[in-house]
Amino acid sequence: MTAPVNPTANPALSTTANEPDSEIVLDLKNVTIHDDVADNELVKGVSFTLRRGGVLGIVGESGSGKSLTCRAILGILPKHIEVSGGSIDLLGRDVSSLTLKEWTGLRGTNIAAVFQDPGSYLNPSIRVGKQVQEVLRVKQHLGRRESRLRTLELFEAVRLNDPAYVYQQYTHELSGGMLQRVLIAAAIALEPDVLIADEATTALDVTVQAEILDLLGELKARTGLSLIVVSHDLAVVAQLCDEVLVMKDGAVVEQGLTRDILYAPKHEYAKLLIAEHEQYGLERYLDSAVPEPEQQELDYA
Ligand SMILES: Nc1ncnc2c1ncn2[C@@H]1O[C@H](COP(=O)(O)OP(=O)(O)OP(=O)(O)O)[C@@H](O)[C@H]1O
Ligand SMILES: [Mg+2]
Repeated sequence: MTAPVNPTANPALSTTANEPDSEIVLDLKNVTIHDDVADNELVKGVSFTLRRGGVLGIVGESGSGKSLTCRAILGILPKHIEVSGGSIDLLGRDVSSLTLKEWTGLRGTNIAAVFQDPGSYLNPSIRVGKQVQEVLRVKQHLGRRESRLRTLELFEAVRLNDPAYVYQQYTHELSGGMLQRVLIAAAIALEPDVLIADEATTALDVTVQAEILDLLGELKARTGLSLIVVSHDLAVVAQLCDEVLVMKDGAVVEQGLTRDILYAPKHEYAKLLIAEHEQYGLERYLDSAVPEPEQQELDYA
C-alpha cells in the first residue's frame, strides 16, 4: 500500500517510511557530476532510493560532494558543472528531460530546499510574512486574505511563537533559528513531496539545531514528506534518518541503514566520523533514537 498523495495529519504515516512498497519519490542511479572547465569529476557515482515518508542522511567532510548532489537533484548546478552520467528520477520523471518551465512547476510544488544561511534567501526590505504569502499567491493562486491566513497557519506549524507578530517582522528583527523556521514554512507552503535540508541547522546553536530537527521529524510524520538531510555531523543525521550515505572526495564510501552504519561501520572513514562524534554525545542518540540491531540472531548463532 502506498501512502496517500495528499496525506492527512496522521502520525502513523511515519511508519510507512522506507517500507519497500511505499512509493518511490526520488531515485538516483550512479550519478556523476563533472566540472567542464577544470575537466574534473566532482561526484563519482551516487545511487539511492528515497520513498514517501523516508529520511535519507548525507554526511561527509567539507568538499565531499554533498551539496552538488543536492543541487543536481534540484536542477540548480552552478554554470559549467553538469550531471555527466547516471540518472535522477523525481516522481518517476527523468529530470534531465525537464524544460525550464517544467522545472519551475516542480520546484516548490514537488521538491523544495532549505540551505544553511536563511537570511540570504529572504528579502531584507519585505516583511517575512509577505514573502511566504507571495509564494502562495503566485503558485497556488490564493487571494490576499486566504494566503495570509495560510501563512499564519504555516508559521504555527513551524512552531514560531506569535505568528501574527513574526508575520510583520523584517529579517534583521529575527534570530537565525526564527529565520530558518520562516524558510522552512516557505519550503513546505506548497506541500512538496521532497524537502532537502542542506546544512539547514549548521549555523544555529545546538539547542535551536535540535528544535529544528525535531520540527522536520514532526513535519515528516504529519505530512508524509520525504526528507534529505545533509550534514557534517553524524549525530545530527542519526537522530532523524532511516538511511545514511557517507561521502568522501565525491564518492560514496558507505551507505545503508543508519543503525547498521552507526553500530558497525565498515569503512575507515565512517569509523572516523563516528569516533569524532562520540565525544559530542552520539552514544545518547544511539541509545534513544536508533533501535539496536536484533541481538537474538547473534545469540543463537
Ligand atoms: N561552483 C563550483 N565551481 C567549481 N567547483 C565547485 C563548485 N561548487 C563546488 N565545487 C567543488 O565540488 C566539490 C564538492 O563540493 P560540494 O559543495 O558539493 O561539497 P560539500 O560536501 O557540500 O561541502 P560542505 O560540507 O563544505 O558544504 C568540492 O571540491 C568543491 O570545490
Ligand atoms: Mg555543502
